Amino acid sequence: MYIRRFSVALVSTLVGYGAWYSYKGGNETSPASAASLTRSFSSSSTAAADAALPTRTVLVIGADELRTGTIVGDGPLTKYSNEYGRQVIEMLSSDQVDDKLRETEQSYFVNRGQGVVRYDLVQLPSNNPIEDDHAEKIVEVPSRSSGKDVGPTDWMFWGVFDGHSGWVTSAKLRNELIQFVARELNDTYIAANGKIPDDAAIDAAIKTGFTRLDDEIVHKSVEKVFKQNSKTLAAEALAPALAGSCALLSFYDARSQQLRVAVTGDSRAVLGRRSDSGKWTATALSVDQTGSNPEEEARMRALHPDEPHVIQHGRVLGGLEPTRAFGDASYKWTREVTDRLKKHFFARSSNRLLTPPYVTAEPVVTTTQIRPDKGDFLVLATDGLWEMLTNDEVVGLVGRWIETQQAQTASTSQFDSLWARIFGSSSSSPKDLPVERGPAPTADDGSKTPIRLRQWGISPDDKGRFITKDNNVATHIVRNALGGKNEEQLSALLTLPSPFSRRYRDDLTVQVIFFGDGEKTGEVTLNLDATAKSNEPLKAKL
Ligand SMILES: *[C@@H]1O[C@H](CO)[C@@H](O)[C@H](O)[C@H]1NC(C)=O
Ligand SMILES: *[C@@H]1O[C@H](CO)[C@@H](O)[C@H](O)[C@H]1NC(C)=O
Repeated sequence: MYIRRFSVALVSTLVGYGAWYSYKGGNETSPASAASLTRSFSSSSTAAADAALPTRTVLVIGADELRTGTIVGDGPLTKYSNEYGRQVIEMLSSDQVDDKLRETEQSYFVNRGQGVVRYDLVQLPSNNPIEDDHAEKIVEVPSRSSGKDVGPTDWMFWGVFDGHSGWVTSAKLRNELIQFVARELNDTYIAANGKIPDDAAIDAAIKTGFTRLDDEIVHKSVEKVFKQNSKTLAAEALAPALAGSCALLSFYDARSQQLRVAVTGDSRAVLGRRSDSGKWTATALSVDQTGSNPEEEARMRALHPDEPHVIQHGRVLGGLEPTRAFGDASYKWTREVTDRLKKHFFARSSNRLLTPPYVTAEPVVTTTQIRPDKGDFLVLATDGLWEMLTNDEVVGLVGRWIETQQAQTASTSQFDSLWARIFGSSSSSPKDLPVERGPAPTADDGSKTPIRLRQWGISPDDKGRFITKDNNVATHIVRNALGGKNEEQLSALLTLPSPFSRRYRDDLTVQVIFFGDGEKTGEVTLNLDATAKSNEPLKAKL
C-alpha cells in the first residue's frame, strides 16, 4: 500500500473500450511475436479474414495505459513486447477468475454455543509476496461468577495485518499479537477475581499487549544486535523493525458479549446489524489513522510542536501514511541508536527525525455490545477494500448474500437452518442493497473513500453492478469490490501481474464474523463449501 496517486491520464484509460488491438498471428513463415502487434481501430476486415482463427482476449499494459484487446490466432504470446514497451497478457477466463478469487478462501462453523456461528475470510495478493496477513484464535478460559466456577467461556480473536515495505512485520503479528494480548487480558481478568474487569482495564490490557510486542520488535531486537555484533544476525533480527505493519484486532468475550476492536493504522472494522425495517445498518468500529485524519494530525502536532513537517501531504514527515504502526523503527529509534546502527551495520536516517518516536503501535480501542439476536456481523478488512467500497456497500453486500443463502432452500446444511432462525426473512428490491444509508466516512475525517471507482471509471451510483455467486462471503465482497457484474473489469484487474497491479489495487484481506446463538457441539469445523481445496487440510482452530 502507500503508493502515491498516479496521473489522471492513466486513470481514465483503465480498461478502455475505445481502442482495440488486433494481433496477426498464425503465419508460419513469420512466427507470431508481440512486436507485430498492430493497432487496428477498424478491425472488422481483419476479423473477417481471420474468422477461422481462435480469438483471445488480452490485456495490454503500457507505461501509461491499460487496455483490453483481442488477439486473433493461436501464436504464442510473448510476455514482453519491445516495440511500444507494452506487455500483452491473455486475460483470465471466467473460470480462472473464480479460481483466483477463491484461491485462499476459508470458512468455519463455530459450534461453541458462545455467540459466534461462523466466520469466513479471503486474501487477494497484489504485491508478490502478499504483504497482508491475518490470524484468528479461540481461547477457552475458565469463568467464575460471584466466587463460583461457572464453566469455561470463550475469548475469540480475529486480526488483519496490513504490512508495508515487505511482509516480515505482518507475519510477526500473525504469529505473536494474539498471544501477547491474551496474556495481558489473562492477567487483568485474574486480577478482577471472577468479575468482568472494567472497560478501562480491558482496554489497557489490549494496549499493553500491542505496545509490548512492538517494543520487542523495535527496541529489544536492537539491544540483541548490539550485544552480539554480527551483521547476519542484525539483518535477521531487525527485519521486522525495518518493515512495518498496521494491525486491526477484534476481541470478543463470549461471557459479556462485548466486542473490542483495537486499531493501529488504517485497516477498518464495520458492524452490520439488522434494524427494525429489516434492512441492515453499518457502523464503523474503528477510525482510519493516517496523516489525513484531523485528530491524528492534532495529536502528532502536539507531540512535535516545533516541527511543521511532522505531517506533510497527509503523511508522517511526508513519508509514512499511517500515523500508528508496528515496526517502522526508523521513525522510532533514538538518534543515538540510528547513528550507532548506521556506523556498525546499516540503517536509513533522515535529518527530519528530530524528536523520535513519531509513530506508535498503541491502538485506539472501541467497545460494542454485540446483539446476536439482531444478526450482528463484523467485517474486518485492510484499507485496500475501503478504497473500493463504502461501509454501507460492504454491509449491504453481506445482507444481500445472506438473503441469497436463505433462498437456497434446497440446501439442508446445518448452517442454513440456523441461518433462517437467526436472520428471518427480509424484503428489499433486488437492485438496492438491503442497507440503510448512514453517514459515510468521508475524506474530510481522514477516512479512506472508494477512490478506485473514479480511477476505474465506475459510477458509485451504479447500484446494479453487484452480483452474488460465491459461497464464501468474504470472496463475495472482494468480487464485488473489483467489478461485480462487470466481468471484463474483474478479469482485467485480476489478470494484472504484480507489481503493476499495485497501481490499480492493493493487497486485500477480508474477514467476516457472524454472531448468533448457534449449536453447541464444542467444535469448530471447516465449511468445505466455502473453503478452497488447497486449504482443506487446514485444521479448524481452537
Ligand atoms: C505470411 O508471411 C509471409 C512473409 O511475411 C507473406 O509473404 C505471406 O503472404 C503471409 N501469409 C499469410 C497467410 O498471411
Ligand atoms: C492465565 O494465567 C494463569 C496463571 O498464570 C495460567 O495458569 C493460565 O494458563 C493462563 N490462561 C491463559 C488463557 O493464558
